[in-house]
Amino acid sequence: MLDFLKLHKQSPVFSSITTDIHCHLIPGVDDGSTSLDETVNCLREMAKMGFKKIFFTPHFQARYPNQEEDILKRFELLKEHLRKLGDNDLPEIGGVAGEYRFDNLYEKHPEDKPLTLPGKKLLCELSLHTSDYSPIEVFKQFLDAGYSLILAHPERYPYLNIHSKLISDILNMGVKIQVNILSLQGFYGVGAMEKGYDYMRNGIVDYIATDTHNMRYVNALAGIEHNKRLRKIIDNTTFLNNQL
Ligand SMILES: [Fe+2]
Repeated sequence: MLDFLKLHKQSPVFSSITTDIHCHLIPGVDDGSTSLDETVNCLREMAKMGFKKIFFTPHFQARYPNQEEDILKRFELLKEHLRKLGDNDLPEIGGVAGEYRFDNLYEKHPEDKPLTLPGKKLLCELSLHTSDYSPIEVFKQFLDAGYSLILAHPERYPYLNIHSKLISDILNMGVKIQVNILSLQGFYGVGAMEKGYDYMRNGIVDYIATDTHNMRYVNALAGIEHNKRLRKIIDNTTFLNNQL
């Protein structure tokens, strides 16, 4: 009986992607986690799903005009709290970066020294609503300054799809693409889900991330266990997550 159970025990959903490069779990800095307890609970559940390493990426945008020094201090405090907790069931803390919005209201430049993922990888996002801004010029500045760029959740921008000139321009520049795994679960609606799968089918997705803000996201992640279509993709696609 025990052998039978072992044979049929499913591996954790995230046994092939064990590094999350995008979440909002530094307590109290943006629209993500509001408390240390909430952060710890989210991290604990994510570890159970298979995540071994987490990078924290708070928003930098007009609505959340965070300052890098302040985020670094808060991150160090969080690390200290987690260290004191001594909970071996939490994922490793990979580091802190930012999710930088580029739109008509907010723009960073290389001289601003934004917080990046290892290897000067800048996680960035565009407006969730309008296309009346082109990031091409500022993207060029960052690439010329030795940064790499990762565009977060292009499936969530209603004005963008696999046929858009902007997507092909961005890809031609060497910008990497990160899809939200919860988009593929339908968390942001059918449109984002289908575009997410479209990007996957076209082989342009380099990273997949949770973009976790709170337990609502974590509970939705848990639902992936029963999503065979998505689990198959996770298991059969090579993402770059674990290089970080
Ligand atoms: Fe995000």
